[in-house]
Amino acid sequence: GAAKLSPLKQMYKEATEFYHHILMTTKIGQRARDYAAKRQLNEDLLQHFNIGYAPNNENILLTYLRQQGYENKLLEESGLFVKSQQGELFDRFRDRLMFPLADEGGYTVGFSGRRISDDPEVAKYMNSPETEIFNKSKLLFHFFEAKKAARSENRLILYEGYMDVIAAYRAGIKSGVASMGTSLTEDQVYMLRRITPNIIINYDGDNPGVHAAERATKLFDKVPGFNLGIVVLPDNLDPDEYVKKYGVERYQGEIAGALAPLEFLLKRLASKYNLQNDREKLAYINEAIKLIAQVNDPVANDLYIEKLAKQTSATRESLKASLLREQRRLRQVQRHKTVVSKANNSDPPQIDLAP
Ligand code: GTP
Ligand code: MN
Ligand code: MN
Ligand code: MN
Ligand code: MN
Repeated sequence: GAAKLSPLKQMYKEATEFYHHILMTTKIGQRARDYAAKRQLNEDLLQHFNIGYAPNNENILLTYLRQQGYENKLLEESGLFVKSQQGELFDRFRDRLMFPLADEGGYTVGFSGRRISDDPEVAKYMNSPETEIFNKSKLLFHFFEAKKAARSENRLILYEGYMDVIAAYRAGIKSGVASMGTSLTEDQVYMLRRITPNIIINYDGDNPGVHAAERATKLFDKVPGFNLGIVVLPDNLDPDEYVKKYGVERYQGEIAGALAPLEFLLKRLASKYNLQNDREKLAYINEAIKLIAQVNDPVANDLYIEKLAKQTSATRESLKASLLREQRRLRQVQRHKTVVSKANNSDPPQIDLAP
């Protein structure tokens, strides 16, 4: 049979089912059902993602879990409650649409709750605090499901928000995951690497999203073996808004048009300079050469030198000369690092015992 869940995971399982039940079937869930409908969360999606509703009540979950026999110590450890100065517990999540956050085995270990009121004084999303079972830098939303889908789709797509993962699912893309509203961590990059080398980053098309995509691209670059694509959506749209506005087919076209990392980084770089001004243009060329030089592929080098020449009307020959100089410099830095690390290596000399 199935392994017995730890008490905390068992509690989260019951909380997930409780919130889901309130959303799907109760009268107090009506406002949340209206909100879900407005966000195009149909019944299938609510079921697949096990979405729930924490009503505007100060202890409905507390009362329920106590009825199930949970003691104060575990209730406090769960992070599902806040404690008053008098030591009394109250439900942490109120009047929020609840997204269960699952671990790699598919068990809920935390929640993110979205405000359904339009009160700007209330934080849009609220997450469970970190606990013994919930570490947000090591968790990706929808990872348990996405890793199955990644086998047939032969790639995995990284989003910024929960609603984007869900919109993608509605659009037939089942391999979407999202980090917890924080920047991507190295742990998460390694989680992805275990599933597939083919990763597409599709963050929001606004400034913070594109900036985050740039940082993520550089993080992926530290781990060998990825085949990365980056999608930047137009008009500051996020994937959820894009699918709503332009439909599924056009969205799939955007995914198919993902940029190679170098192409994306060069575009980003160019947007930061005024190429009409010689001083800025030279600075741009200098930085662009540094990016191109990091790619150890003569064909890719030629391709991007060609593009850079067209864009800046510098000659191929001069750009190539700069590229070679930069690559020579990089090799020297590399050699220096190797020498230093060998000198610092205090292991005893290896004795060769082979006959
Ligand atoms: P919707 O407005 O519901 O469509 O969400 P979104 O995903 O488009 O939100 P946004 O692009 O503003 O933020 C991306 C992600 O950052 C969200 O999915 C959350 O994970 C996180 N985030 C956004 N706002 C908050 C907040 O107020 N608090 C916390 N803790 N996280 C947030
Ligand atoms: Mn269900
Ligand atoms: Mn955003
Ligand atoms: Mn967004
Ligand atoms: Mn959104």
